[in-house]
Amino acid sequence: MKVLVVGGGGREHALVWKLRQSPRVTEVYCAPGNAGIARQATCVNISAEDIPALLAFARDKAIDLTLVGPEAPLTTGIVDEFQAAGLKIFGPSRAAAEIEGSKVLAKEIMAKYGIPTAGYAVFTSPDEASAYIQKTGVPCVLKADGLAAGKGVIIANDLAAAQAAVKSIMVDRDFGDAGARLVVEELLTGEEVSILAFTDGDTVIPMVSSQDHKRAFDNDEGPNTGGMGAYAPAPVYTPEVARRAMEEILVPMIRALKAEGRTYRGVIYAGLMVAEQSPKVLEFNVRFGDPEAQPVLSLLETDLVEIMEAVLENRLDRLEIKWKPQASICVVLASGGYPSAYEKGKVIYGLDETPGDITVFHAGTAEKDGQVVTSGGRVLGVTATGADISSAISKAYDAVDKIRFDGMHYRLDIGRKALDRS
Ligand code: AMP
Ligand code: GLY
Repeated sequence: MKVLVVGGGGREHALVWKLRQSPRVTEVYCAPGNAGIARQATCVNISAEDIPALLAFARDKAIDLTLVGPEAPLTTGIVDEFQAAGLKIFGPSRAAAEIEGSKVLAKEIMAKYGIPTAGYAVFTSPDEASAYIQKTGVPCVLKADGLAAGKGVIIANDLAAAQAAVKSIMVDRDFGDAGARLVVEELLTGEEVSILAFTDGDTVIPMVSSQDHKRAFDNDEGPNTGGMGAYAPAPVYTPEVARRAMEEILVPMIRALKAEGRTYRGVIYAGLMVAEQSPKVLEFNVRFGDPEAQPVLSLLETDLVEIMEAVLENRLDRLEIKWKPQASICVVLASGGYPSAYEKGKVIYGLDETPGDITVFHAGTAEKDGQVVTSGGRVLGVTATGADISSAISKAYDAVDKIRFDGMHYRLDIGRKALDRS
């Protein structure tokens, strides 16, 4: 079977790595991929957002199954276009993917079907948004409606910051058209957890729970990033929270989407806030999380191809998905300056010195004159699996010590919340 993975970050490297283990897979292509993916797949120089070029490539190479990593092509309809051309592709349709593409739509569906989430109001006028915040007060959370590469969410602790956020999102359009509508939300407190699940539109099978580390620096300080590391499973996701998340959130949401004519097939990601054993939705994403995919896929025993086929053939209810009873962690090594401006092209040393049981997933890397160099903000995801979270943490950080590049920075506390709970 010939498989095409769309995307070129750490998540896509983990997907390629997992697909390579399938006895069913003979060839893996990745568009555009990166220097690490190039060691396990044939990289194709096509952007993840260039749907016509991806479609032409898949036809030309007679690709049997395409798997989409990032949200952007899903929200612009890559699945619909491949299916219309008679090609097999794993992921939600454009209509289903709109729950990530529009925060307003996601909130409206949750409100209509009674799915627990933060209270909210929607605005198309900055003056009305400002007046509302003046009346309801702070803290509050301001979100651009559309896709903003994880940056369109601002938590305001005082009125000045809230008004500045309204201006940035709606008037200055710092996130472009994503800011045509604004969601103002109640601030939720507690501990965050990411629940990824496979669904064929009827059956929902959750993956092991995981936790991202969104802030740039230790102790959750500094600016938000795409994610500085993740681990799985997350002890905050107790059996009671898991039961409630399935009964109150994931199953009702998949049913709601079907009732709304947006039948969802693929991976759904619920970002939850948990307080006193009670989960509420922060956001839905329509794909694997990055970096959550790295530890989660490291624990997946079942062949990913088997799962994708069961989803596409609507028979997930008859599949058993198995997980390793272990813990896994991914420590992200980032470029100096990230998430603000950073330099690229720094040579990466020590990649061949990490132990064999460590997987170094590449995110922002490229090959130049026979050397691997940095080419993005998040550069590598050093991933280790162990009997428990503490052994996984030690293994990962021992491997991190072998790797270096100019300006490299990373968090030292990935997984600490799990340690504190155990
Ligand atoms: P989102 O893209 O909606 O998940 O927002 C990104 C991050 O902002 C989340 O992972 C949370 O850390 C934070 N966040 C979003 N909404 C809220 C909220 N209502 N209360 C507290 N934190 C939030
Ligand atoms: N790790 C957060 C995300 O993938 O959106």
